[in-house]
Amino acid sequence: MSTMQEFNGRRVLVTGGAKGIGRETVRLFAQHGARVAMTGRDTGALQRQAEQFAREGLEVLALAGDVTSLEDCRAVIRSTVEQFGGLDVLVNNAGMSMRGMFEQTSLELFRTVVDINFTGAVSMTRLALPELLQSRGSVVFVSSLSGLRGLPGIAPYSAAKMALTGFSQALRCELSPRGVHVGILYVSFTENDNGKTIYDAEGNRIRLQRARNSSTQFDVARAVVHMVRRRRRSVIMTPLGKLAALAYTLLPGLSERLITRFAARSDLYGTAAKAANGGST
Ligand SMILES: NC(=O)c1ccc[n+]([C@@H]2O[C@H](COP(=O)([O-])OP(=O)(O)OC[C@H]3O[C@@H](n4cnc5c(N)ncnc54)[C@H](OP(=O)(O)O)[C@@H]3O)[C@@H](O)[C@H]2O)c1
Repeated sequence: MSTMQEFNGRRVLVTGGAKGIGRETVRLFAQHGARVAMTGRDTGALQRQAEQFAREGLEVLALAGDVTSLEDCRAVIRSTVEQFGGLDVLVNNAGMSMRGMFEQTSLELFRTVVDINFTGAVSMTRLALPELLQSRGSVVFVSSLSGLRGLPGIAPYSAAKMALTGFSQALRCELSPRGVHVGILYVSFTENDNGKTIYDAEGNRIRLQRARNSSTQFDVARAVVHMVRRRRRSVIMTPLGKLAALAYTLLPGLSERLITRFAARSDLYGTAAKAANGGST
């Protein structure tokens, strides 16, 4: 079914839904008739985006919440279920990347990045689970090509995204016999909002600028919606992503040498990393 109302009445929660990929995912589900809630830490951005959606004729519930706070996760799930009467789809999209060699990375920053990208998704999924079991719904994890193989210069982010793979695989075995779909999407270089920030090795926010991307935010949103529609288990985006995944499996030694050589020549090493250009997020 591919009519614009195919998600009519379905109840969707997107973490990190006021910006970037999350915003386009919220918009697309809402345009397809779903009742959608979005979360994020930036209350101003949430409010502005909810107003923008309203101007577009889309009613979206904005709920402030930090996925690294269990209390916030509980409150977000509770409010969503109170407002919608249940939950059919949870999209774990909230995430933040970083740049920095492990040697320079503070342990506080390492924990923060893992908390946002991995533990936050675990918390949201665990707390939403009774509702998802009830609705025989879907949970989707927004991962990255750096979740397919550990990459230099972004070790905490890569480790967190790879942890999502193990978690989603375990979850699928536990939940698919009970009717819950578990999907993971490996996103390639994607356009970013102006002013998007990531962390440097000490945890300062720095601007991310990238000259070239292989996907638009809408491409990723469409892939998320498609994954839920078809109950797909795992999708690697873009031909480059698929090629990289194949190379990692078939030619692991060569892949590692190429990645190491590329990283050594890029600005991932040394202080130029502060400029935060390029690289997979
Ligand atoms: N863009 C890419 O090239 C790319 C590539 C691969 C994977 N991805 C993944 O795609 C997802 C979306 O990325 P994006 O490019 O759209 O980035 P973005 O524009 O920076 O959006 C990230 C979203 O996550 C939210 N967020 C961050 N930390 C949070 C926290 N602790 N609690 C709640 N919400 C939080 C942000 O909201 P607040 O600021 O309001 O907290 C924001 O809405 C991420 O998981 C990212 O890892 C992106």
